[in-house]
Amino acid sequence: MPIGKQQRDATDGATERKPRALIVYGSSSGTTQKVAEAIVEGLVEEGAEASAIRFDRLALAPGRVAKADLIGVGSPTYFLRPPVYMTDFLNKLPSLAGKRAFVFCTAGMDRPGETLERLHAGLEARGAKGVDARWFRSSMSYWPHRKRGLGNPAGLPDEEQLARARAWGQHLASAQQLPERAPDPVSLATRWKARLVGNAKLRRAVFPGVELHVPPCTGYGQCLSRCSFEALVRVADAEIPIFDRSRCAQCLECVSVCPRGAITSDSRVKEWISTLSYRLGVH
Ligand SMILES: Cc1cc2nc3c(=O)[nH]c(=O)nc-3n(C[C@H](O)[C@H](O)[C@H](O)COP(=O)(O)O)c2cc1C
Repeated sequence: MPIGKQQRDATDGATERKPRALIVYGSSSGTTQKVAEAIVEGLVEEGAEASAIRFDRLALAPGRVAKADLIGVGSPTYFLRPPVYMTDFLNKLPSLAGKRAFVFCTAGMDRPGETLERLHAGLEARGAKGVDARWFRSSMSYWPHRKRGLGNPAGLPDEEQLARARAWGQHLASAQQLPERAPDPVSLATRWKARLVGNAKLRRAVFPGVELHVPPCTGYGQCLSRCSFEALVRVADAEIPIFDRSRCAQCLECVSVCPRGAITSDSRVKEWISTLSYRLGVH
């Protein structure tokens, strides 16, 4: 019978207790989830107890954060920052005093901007210590860019990125003390870009938003499960979803999934501006 890592440590006399790790992630199109699962694999390979859960399911299992001694938080990058649902989640996290932690993000144009820094600061503010930070290349989920072939290609995170994630998981399981690792410094130019595109009012004016057309919407509802912002919701028994523009983060995920083409981007001019902003490196 093959000897397990923890047993081997025990026979070597080095019975270090492996961490109980919990990764909480946000993910609209599944890439951050893949990275989270690869980190879990790495942790488990090194003998840690580890699992990953989507941020919105954590409310159903509130005790899980308390039981973990190593907490990871993962997020996509939206407009050079974590999406609003992740910021809200961080603000509601219970105290992490005394827990080791790590943060990671995915970026579909290799421009994570302030995302890691903000996640890092969020966990430190909850009292976590030794917060480690990494970002991973992923495919581009922003619909206006995706349909024009801008940003990273499909198929990311590839095996190379997932191997990095697994190796990091192994490292996290073994390191008794995580050295404090601040995210790479963010340049002044990136800070200004993040401030510009992170401003919801300005973004609504300049970047494409969403229009829901009834008909052809028949209430099929695929958009509801893809909207992480509760901007599209079904009210009571009404068949047609309600669209709340004020909650919309303009990810346009709903546009990409509606089988009837009932949700469209609200302006071709804004799509053009968004493409130009990509070419100029603003977003
Ligand atoms: C609204 C929106 C804005 C985005 N902004 C950025 C960005 O500023 N920089 C970047 O590198 N990627 C950006 N992306 C790409 C996503 O960060 C990337 O595709 C991510 O891996 C998606 O994660 P998920 O599949 O877990 O939802 C953006 C995607 C969307 C939908």
